[in-house]
Amino acid sequence: MIKQKKLSVLFVCLGNICRSPTAHAVFRKFVSDNGLSNIINIDSAGTGDWHIGRPPDRRSSEKAKEFGYDLSDLRARLVETTDFENFSYILVMDSKNLADVRKLAPKDHKAKIELLLNYSAQSRLDNVYEVPDPYFGGEDGFDHVLDLIEDATLGFLDYLKANYISELE
Ligand code: 4NP
Repeated sequence: MIKQKKLSVLFVCLGNICRSPTAHAVFRKFVSDNGLSNIINIDSAGTGDWHIGRPPDRRSSEKAKEFGYDLSDLRARLVETTDFENFSYILVMDSKNLADVRKLAPKDHKAKIELLLNYSAQSRLDNVYEVPDPYFGGEDGFDHVLDLIEDATLGFLDYLKANYISELE
């Protein structure tokens, strides 16, 4: 049996090669910089199966690398039923991911399933609720995705620190 960590976060998008691996690597860096890697478990997954086992999209990896985030060890996988037991938070990129993940969730699951941008104060001010899919678009889409993800994952880390971390340390 997998022992559930006290705090565990799964980032989910469609292909698990652009947005969710970016969120995974960015949040992992912030968690590490805050000395919290031993109490926050992080992973990412997708709802679509086209890229299972593959590394992240080159455009996402290169954009993230420019800003100091490393996606090189990440490989795409599907969301699994056990994720709803093993993760306390499942943070998704858009409303389609939200609907798809909710459909996969067992009835009695305890994971909190939310849009990642709920944790971005700036996105709320801008009335932006989704991290848009950059896959079929141009380079600037990848800049935009990284900006949104940095802001929201920082906001999420602040939320965790305010609500849980002192209890866990
Ligand atoms: P992601 O982007 O959901 O951010 O990983 C996509 C990657 C691949 C595809 C769609 C979205 N695709 O259709 O293959």
